Amino acid sequence: MRLYPPVYTLFREPKLDVKLGGYRIPEGAALMLPQWVIHRSPRWYDDPEAFDPDRWTPERRSRRPRFAYFPFGGGPRHCIGKAFSLLEAKLILASVCAEYELDYEGPDLSLRGSLTMHPNHPVPMRVRER
Ligand code: HEM
Repeated sequence: MRLYPPVYTLFREPKLDVKLGGYRIPEGAALMLPQWVIHRSPRWYDDPEAFDPDRWTPERRSRRPRFAYFPFGGGPRHCIGKAFSLLEAKLILASVCAEYELDYEGPDLSLRGSLTMHPNHPVPMRVRER
């Protein structure tokens, strides 16, 4: 969800002129809030391309601002399916991985960003019973 956020950017359009982080943003401007870029920024993550579950210890997490990680958006229009998706993902992973080992042996993933980010080609996996 950090390295491959399905929703890889959000858009907002201010209704009034605003000042954000020292920048003057005029009414009607197209604002892009790209999870893809922010989730991989060395400003917030050491060795940003590496998968490292220890990044999420409470101690390391507390060193990052709230919106260094926002796969489900935030504020009044945040995703209403957040809790459901996270629970569903854990249940599927736990049920499948308890019985099978999955390996991806193919080339680096080539990705296609349309409404959501997804693989550009089939992703064949080698499946072994545990
Ligand atoms: C991994 C799965 C999902 C991701 C990454 C995701 C991500 C997002 C994000 C980033 C937004 C905010 C869009 C914005 O602010 O412009 C959003 C909104 C929304 N999501 Fe999800 N979503 C997921 C699954 C779901 C599911 C399972 C449901 C329904 C059961 C759902 C329903 C919605 C709805 C209705 C909104 C609009 C909320 C509003 O505008 O008030 N999402 N989602």
